[in-house]
Amino acid sequence: MDLRGKVALVTGGSSGIGSSICLRLGELGASVMVGYRTRGEPAGEVANRIVTEHGVEAEPCELDVRDYEQVTRIVNGIIKARGRIDILVNNAGVGVEGAVTPARPVEEWVDVIHTNLIGSFFCIKAVSLHMLLARKGSIVNVSSVAGMVGIPGLSSYSASKAGLIGLTKSLSKEFAPYKVRVNAVAPGYTSETGMVERIGEEDICSIRERIPLRRLARRDEIAETVAYLSSDSTSYVTGQTLVVDGGLTA
Ligand SMILES: NC(=O)c1ccc[n+]([C@@H]2O[C@H](COP(=O)([O-])OP(=O)(O)OC[C@H]3O[C@@H](n4cnc5c(N)ncnc54)[C@H](OP(=O)(O)O)[C@@H]3O)[C@@H](O)[C@H]2O)c1
Repeated sequence: MDLRGKVALVTGGSSGIGSSICLRLGELGASVMVGYRTRGEPAGEVANRIVTEHGVEAEPCELDVRDYEQVTRIVNGIIKARGRIDILVNNAGVGVEGAVTPARPVEEWVDVIHTNLIGSFFCIKAVSLHMLLARKGSIVNVSSVAGMVGIPGLSSYSASKAGLIGLTKSLSKEFAPYKVRVNAVAPGYTSETGMVERIGEEDICSIRERIPLRRLARRDEIAETVAYLSSDSTSYVTGQTLVVDGGLTA
């Protein structure tokens, strides 16, 4: 795979899967804009690593995907400075665990949808104008196995990730005449990430037993799949969700 000369924007690049995606895209030669919401310092470290280890351009950019005004400002700034965005990876995501009970505030549920689904839509909307005019581009949405099967206590997260798969399918057809591809990756449980670190060791053991490959994913395995879908290696693939879950949902 070769991403030399491409400009990529990755949301939520300050940690977990997002930081691995940034590093892999940089390794393949892309200039990488490392989006972050609160953790500017680690995002800066990811960008520095890309510059020093791979000799391509990279910079952190503050980008709360829930804020459409900020999203358009940042996207337009990148276009102005670099001329284009070839790759958008909607990786930023949050998950809130808890059953739907009268005591739980609705805002909590809504914020998950706002970040994971509406935030991804905001980024696509801001970037798509430029991609459609350029008649090229690749958008990869980071969904989840939770978007394919129900998980009790994760209804907002599941709904947001299932929504991302629907958004991917619909926009792939809308953008296909302009040669802009839209795909999704649905990771299973992935080690060394914020989301999995919040799960207790006992639960991780029982999850591992249910995974046919008997282990969690590594972050680089998810990053590799995102890079694959971003690249011209998949030039005839659009509207698809590639599941990377060790066989969990097979
Ligand atoms: N980990 C897993 O096992 C797993 C499995 C399936 C799918 N996924 C998906 O993979 C993606 C990354 O997960 P992860 O576990 O690596 O997450 P993580 O380590 O918890 O990191 C989440 C990232 O999202 C960013 N973020 C959160 N809210 C944001 C907002 N409003 N605007 C912009 N950025 C925001 C955070 O930025 P700051 O820290 O800078 O605030 C952080 O960089 C998520 O979409 C998640 O749903 C993860």
